[in-house]
Amino acid sequence: MARIVGSIMSTHVPVILNAITRHEESEPYWKPFFDGYEDVHAWLDEVRPDVAVIVHNDHGMNFFLDKMPTFAVGCAPEYRHGDEGWGIPTVAPYPGDQDLSWHLVESLIADDFDVTTCQEMLVDHAVTNPMKLLWPDQERAVRIVPVTVNTVMFPYPSAKRCFALGEAIGRAVSSYRAEPELRVVMIGSGGLSHQLEGTRAGYINKAFDLDFVNSLTTDPTWVTQFSGEDLVKESGSQGVELLTWLTARAAILGAARQVAWNYHIPISNTAAGTLVLEPAA
Ligand code: DHB
Ligand code: FE
Repeated sequence: MARIVGSIMSTHVPVILNAITRHEESEPYWKPFFDGYEDVHAWLDEVRPDVAVIVHNDHGMNFFLDKMPTFAVGCAPEYRHGDEGWGIPTVAPYPGDQDLSWHLVESLIADDFDVTTCQEMLVDHAVTNPMKLLWPDQERAVRIVPVTVNTVMFPYPSAKRCFALGEAIGRAVSSYRAEPELRVVMIGSGGLSHQLEGTRAGYINKAFDLDFVNSLTTDPTWVTQFSGEDLVKESGSQGVELLTWLTARAAILGAARQVAWNYHIPISNTAAGTLVLEPAA
């Protein structure tokens, strides 16, 4: 058996990794952000996940504008960190969980989600950043299954479709046979509101961020009323990364309870959010 212990949603601004490398966590700019991870670490110590399914968006490391899968699942034995050019040190590979990956792929495709399967996949700051924030000293103790959602190039998958994908991942995990029981944590990496380019560079929408985050516990399909264009308007052209949070939330399948929440504006150009939800039952 396998069980989803909860979902962690986390910002992935690259400069966070520079701050960790420079040991700047206690400096005034960073403290309110890093303090938000204390409750998350305490929760992780309690639930002790074996595997993290990391829903994120690839930033040009595997997929570029010439080939852009809407949804892709990593099925690799390990995931190497590509050099992204942000001045972030490149880190050692993360161990995968190929059995769980292939089970997800088979279950998702049987469930009418025609995902791209990736037997090799590089990871970028959207994976290395939450891994370092969540497991600062032992990030390789947890195996990973990366899942990508296109939030980079129109047309994006609809919020409705992302919610359905998350539910299908939740069903896939619950039908996985493992002995002893495998504890799976979902991670949604990205968001919240931000826009890095153009005349709206630096755009942040706190009211929308808070409505969205609140909806994940009170009314999880609320955001499905918005089209891709609406999401860009409301949350910025990279704020669309919130689709990764929605997917990770939907995998809980049913009511969720908020365990931890921190919101801090800005980190770089981004509204930084950290959220932990667990199954309410
Ligand atoms: C920033 C945010 C992102 O989501 C990203 O992928 C890269 C940079 C930023 O705010 O600097
Ligand atoms: Fe990003």
